[in-house]
Amino acid sequence: MAESAPSPLGDAFEAMPVGPGFFQNASFFPMPIVLVGTREPDGAPNLAPYSLCFPAPHLAPDALLLRCRADSHTARNVLRSGMATLSFVPDTPAFMANVAVLGTPGPAAERMARSVFALAPSTRAASAGAEEPPDIVAEAVQVFECRLPGDSAPTPEGEDLWLPLRVEAILLKSRWRHALQTGGEPPRLPVDYGFRAPTATWLSRRTTRYDAPRLRPRFQLTVPLPAETIVARFRRALADPGCPVTGAATMKHVQLGIPAHERTTWSPTVDLMLTDTEEGARLHGRIGPHPHVWTFFLGLHAVVAFSGLGGVMYGLAQWVIGEPPWALWAAPVALGLHAFIAGAAFIGQGLGADQVHRLRAFVEDTLGA
Ligand SMILES: Cc1cc2nc3c(=O)[nH]c(=O)nc-3n(C[C@H](O)[C@H](O)[C@H](O)COP(=O)(O)O)c2cc1C
Repeated sequence: MAESAPSPLGDAFEAMPVGPGFFQNASFFPMPIVLVGTREPDGAPNLAPYSLCFPAPHLAPDALLLRCRADSHTARNVLRSGMATLSFVPDTPAFMANVAVLGTPGPAAERMARSVFALAPSTRAASAGAEEPPDIVAEAVQVFECRLPGDSAPTPEGEDLWLPLRVEAILLKSRWRHALQTGGEPPRLPVDYGFRAPTATWLSRRTTRYDAPRLRPRFQLTVPLPAETIVARFRRALADPGCPVTGAATMKHVQLGIPAHERTTWSPTVDLMLTDTEEGARLHGRIGPHPHVWTFFLGLHAVVAFSGLGGVMYGLAQWVIGEPPWALWAAPVALGLHAFIAGAAFIGQGLGADQVHRLRAFVEDTLGA
């Protein structure tokens, strides 16, 4: 159904179906991203990102509802231990890239081995006979230490559970406590418009959409600033000792990559060419593997193509002179090899997806600074 009503502001409104999950599949509903900390049965810490986490004052003044899959580590750990911590981490490219990693289903220990977050002990004392409370995220802006009271029943919804948590303690970093009390600048927390899959989650960044891997995707942006100012911004951001990427900004060209100690074969690079227009600078961007890796892949494709072509020509010659044209098999073999090489490139892109996000977020942060 797509009823339209004219809007004085240009675009017409379109009616969307109001059904299950309307806040994700029929609208852009701003939601938080919290790292839910729990303990596995062996006491090991687990962190997983969750957005469906809302205050529920109709249950109790300190109540929150958290929706998780019933078979998630988080749900099982909360139901077993009765405890969880909700850490609100700042919206930085590196943290958001790691959120996508932690949101990928799989063994908790494997994901935690890739976590960039430092864990700090809970402020809650372990009650006699109870499990040790889960850790909190040291980098968080604020943490809610929560309990699932023994007498509260989670509400099932399909394969999910709504867990009615109670906030036992709120920990706010002193800088933000000061901002809250004096009306100062608030922290920049990430906003999620809906979880779709670990590689396809929409955050509120202007142009950041986590797409499935594509080979050397291009993008274009127009920024209402002269190219020179933008290049100067990149130069300043790259000179910052805490900068999460490396690169160079010269004249009308910015090149960005992943710092050497984190670089792998699949690590991406971003190339930005800037041109001045009447509205400001136009940025033509391209995300791709390191030029050496790209050249290697092109070389492989070229070798396979020439071998296939050579084989086909030889096969045709065999056929003309009445010999069995077995060399014609070179054509399907070459096609198979092309598909294999392209598949390997796509898999490599998937492996570098969190670094792609880091580079794109750095570009947006620098432009929006
Ligand atoms: C930004 C983001 C938000 C997410 N929000 C939710 C959510 O609200 N509910 C949910 O069930 N899964 C959500 N996920 C997916 C879980 O994080 C994912 O299933 C994860 O593997 C669960 O880990 P666990 O088994 O350790 O709990 C989200 C993932 C991301 C990246």
